[in-house]
Amino acid sequence: MNAIQFLEILNRRQSVRAYSDRPVESEKLERCLEAARIAPSACNSQPWKFIVVDDPELKNEIAGYASAGLIPMNRFVVQSPVLVVAVRESANFTSKVGAMLKDKPYTLMDIGMAVLQFCLQATAEGLGTCIIGWFDEKKVKKTLHIPAGKRAELIIAVGYAVENYPLRNKVRKEMAEIRSCNRY
Ligand SMILES: Cc1cc2nc3c(=O)[nH]c(=O)nc-3n(C[C@H](O)[C@H](O)[C@H](O)COP(=O)(O)O)c2cc1C
Repeated sequence: MNAIQFLEILNRRQSVRAYSDRPVESEKLERCLEAARIAPSACNSQPWKFIVVDDPELKNEIAGYASAGLIPMNRFVVQSPVLVVAVRESANFTSKVGAMLKDKPYTLMDIGMAVLQFCLQATAEGLGTCIIGWFDEKKVKKTLHIPAGKRAELIIAVGYAVENYPLRNKVRKEMAEIRSCNRY
């Protein structure tokens, strides 16, 4: 793959919000998890665990916790055959000290990187994903037996998009708005 093709994959990754019931091949899911596993993290702390939820009943229960409540969000999550819950683990000593001294939430940054690597690999596999940050964390933790001191930060919906799901143009700030050179 050349650099242009790599950028095409980045462009092809989009939040998929309509899934078919085609199951996700386990070897593809394994490669997505491998992509997350090798993600960079502050002091190589790797403060993450990924819970693959593929039992249909359990998966539907977790999906329900992403769409319950007054705001009609995330109703599509139930369609995806697999959910992957990213749990934030304790950082290693050096990362913790660094985060404290520099006042930076390294572990959250780390989780974001691993989740994105998962999603990019999924794109390369022909799978759709949507990163879900809006869900009832308490209920997700209870259902999945996540220990009290840990945070369930993100859920990744994974599956095949429905047929003819459109590739949207990226709605993003213009380059001129986000880039400067040599000073702020
Ligand atoms: C931390 C985070 C949390 C998100 N939470 C949700 C969510 O709860 N529901 C949803 O539909 N999309 C969610 N998204 C997806 C964003 O809305 C989406 O990435 C953004 O609008 C850009 O669109 P694109 O992913 O299609 O390029 C989340 C994305 C991130 C990075």
